[in-house]
Amino acid sequence: MPELRNRSWILQKRPEGLVTLADIELREEPLRPLQAGEVLIRNHYLSIDPAIRDWMSERPSYLPSIPLGEVVRSTSLGEVIDSRHPAFKAGDLAVGVNGWEDYSIARGEQLMPVQPMPGEAEQYFLSIYGAVGLTAYFGFLEKGRPQPGETVLVSAAGGAVGSLVGQIARLKGCRAVGLAGSEEKCRWIVDELGFDAAINYRTSANLEEAIREACPEGVDVYFDNVGGEVLDATLMNLNKNARIVFCGAISGYNSQQPVPGPYNFWQILARTVTLEGFLVSDYFERFPEAIAQVRQWLAEGKITFREQVVDGLEHCLDTFNLLFEGANTGKLIVRLAPTAEAGVRGNSLSHATEASVSAAVLEETR
Ligand SMILES: NC(=O)c1ccc[n+]([C@@H]2O[C@H](COP(=O)([O-])OP(=O)(O)OC[C@H]3O[C@@H](n4cnc5c(N)ncnc54)[C@H](OP(=O)(O)O)[C@@H]3O)[C@@H](O)[C@H]2O)c1
Repeated sequence: MPELRNRSWILQKRPEGLVTLADIELREEPLRPLQAGEVLIRNHYLSIDPAIRDWMSERPSYLPSIPLGEVVRSTSLGEVIDSRHPAFKAGDLAVGVNGWEDYSIARGEQLMPVQPMPGEAEQYFLSIYGAVGLTAYFGFLEKGRPQPGETVLVSAAGGAVGSLVGQIARLKGCRAVGLAGSEEKCRWIVDELGFDAAINYRTSANLEEAIREACPEGVDVYFDNVGGEVLDATLMNLNKNARIVFCGAISGYNSQQPVPGPYNFWQILARTVTLEGFLVSDYFERFPEAIAQVRQWLAEGKITFREQVVDGLEHCLDTFNLLFEGANTGKLIVRLAPTAEAGVRGNSLSHATEASVSAAVLEETR
């Protein structure tokens, strides 16, 4: 194989606040040869996730911090172009925790082979069949333990994970209420996704009161993606024996100060609430079960989801920062290599997906 050159986003320094070009740098270097047990992947799609901000910091977390001088870690989906691992051969598609780069070298045992069904886009394995869909499925059902008739409140409800949680809540016979940061997102989750009510947390003068009005029977399950003030306002509206699924805390990811609170934490005791942390990777062995169920719901038209696909490795940083402005309109994915699906560029990739494609879309969302 001729020598390949790899472009990678390298973490230069620990960001303070939003990540900037002073923190990460796009570098090009020759790829090293493969060693026994390794697989070379040409990345087609990179997953742009809020958690990457956490991995860039030095805060103790569920994965080690990305070392300075190393590629920015992210899940990617790509095609095997060379393999020294018995489970993979050239042409296979695989997902793994790799990085923002054209090519990745990974240990074979750390990759998951994927096979899209006819009509399914490859990148579904980074969105609806990836961390997004599986987080909504396992986080809500396993940690939220919803019962029919209960009220489910979801934050970042117009986002990738949150929009699915509300739809699954409706499928389980619950009342679904979403918190989102724009009128457009509030309309979308109610009018198109079937949420029972939505609250624009950015314009609400008194969030605690707004939640009380939207959830007159109280909140039984709170699926928390944001933490901070929204969590505090929710704590004052919980029912006895409510469950809080602690899935994320994006409001604090860029904070340069220690994150305070929650001030109303006492409510956990007062209402005998269960608050549980959730990590989708803990459910790895059960991914096939969830993918099968989500696939069926999609086929039956019971759930829908949005992806926002942006072309070009050079757009990783701009795309990433959309998450913290609330400017993303679905699961954010950067596409590196045109694939068969590129033929339907700009159109729906399936009846269940809206894909906004190309860097031009990135400009529009600003
Ligand atoms: N635990 C796990 O295994 C796991 C797995 C995947 C994701 N997650 C977590 O799930 C959450 C959602 O992830 P996602 O990929 O689906 O992203 P997303 O919801 O599609 O995008 C993030 C959204 O967060 C909201 N947001 C940003 N800054 C905020 C702030 N200061 N206060 C309140 N809301 C803010 C914005 O929506 P608005 O317009 O509504 O503000 C933004 O669109 C994140 O916290 C992520 O870390 C956890």
